[in-house]
Amino acid sequence: MTDNTAVAGSNTAPGDASTASTTPATAADTPGERRLPKITVVGAGNVGATTGLLLVLRELADVVLIDIAEGVARGKALDIMQMRSNERFGPRISGTGSYADTANSDIVVVTAGIPRRPGMTREELLEINSGIVRSVLNGALEASPNALYVFVTNPLDVMCNLAWEIASSSPAALPPARLMGMGGVLDTARFIHAIAEATGAEPAEIEALVVGAHGEAMVPLAQRARVGGRPLNELLSAEQIKSVVDATVNGGAAVVELLQTGSAFYAPASSIVQMVTELLQPTGKILSVCARLNGEYGISDVSICVPVRLGKNGVEEVVELELAPAELSQLRASAEATKQQLGRL
Ligand SMILES: NC(=O)c1ccc[n+]([C@@H]2O[C@H](COP(=O)([O-])OP(=O)(O)OC[C@H]3O[C@@H](n4cnc5c(N)ncnc54)[C@H](O)[C@@H]3O)[C@@H](O)[C@H]2O)c1
Repeated sequence: MTDNTAVAGSNTAPGDASTASTTPATAADTPGERRLPKITVVGAGNVGATTGLLLVLRELADVVLIDIAEGVARGKALDIMQMRSNERFGPRISGTGSYADTANSDIVVVTAGIPRRPGMTREELLEINSGIVRSVLNGALEASPNALYVFVTNPLDVMCNLAWEIASSSPAALPPARLMGMGGVLDTARFIHAIAEATGAEPAEIEALVVGAHGEAMVPLAQRARVGGRPLNELLSAEQIKSVVDATVNGGAAVVELLQTGSAFYAPASSIVQMVTELLQPTGKILSVCARLNGEYGISDVSICVPVRLGKNGVEEVVELELAPAELSQLRASAEATKQQLGRL
């Protein structure tokens, strides 16, 4: 198992051949011409704009922010561009309200939606955000039929499944590998943070993974977790491990309670960038990503967060780790709960 909070790849200068060589080929490429990837971020709110900021700071891509509130997208892009002389990054970020400006993107990250408010469950977001995801996909797919799509809008797993249904039945049918969701990477980051706090270890020493639905039904794989190569139960009591798992499952809600308005966005944006980095510059590390399953872990016909390897074609491989029987049952129950929620749409 791999620590999936370590940063994949390294920053490279714009136009650097090492960046260009890992750029997914698009129709826009011309022989001999090297360019940065183009990433569209739909939704220029807290998560979307922070993602755009990290992408250009790390010089991973040129970014287009698109939002129904066009002024917000353009204003945040301009604000970030005005950082360039201080931060010395090469890529450009722009804002728009029109999908025409997003055409031929290599990656489309969908963060459009309303965030969870205090006391609101992710499931309550379902109805509003499913309407938003439908309208976003219509616009984005037409402009960028060859892109990789990373969904972030909550409730994440249900939105991914909905997107898969829409995309697979649209004229520009999207192969399942090119459609994925960010949830497990964030949950894993929160799990590692909770383990680090409980043990005093550095995050880099910790190997851990969270699978299952991004919500109350997530499955932190405590029995597989290692700190400096040692199993967690050699360092923490059963009660302490339970507290770590609870802190992980409630990690998002804890931020919501403190903020009072809106939900977490720094760690979510960083988790999106983890996935994007692995899509552009694959290292083979295992990430927990919402992916379509066809029998893996005994689960079929649903998208849920499982260990995968990403690459330039999207989800290159679903990695079947040997899970403890209780954790495997929880993963299957989590998939079943997602199917039931989907049935309510
Ligand atoms: N998967 C995860 O791990 C994860 C983590 C954090 C947040 N989220 C989710 O991400 C979403 C965004 O969160 P946020 O904090 O950035 O919210 P936010 O309110 O700050 O931003 C959302 C943005 O989406 C825009 N928007 C709404 N409808 C749109 C449409 N049809 N087209 C384009 N833009 C549209 C809004 O104008 C707003 O600017 C929420 O659904 C939230 O629950 C998911």
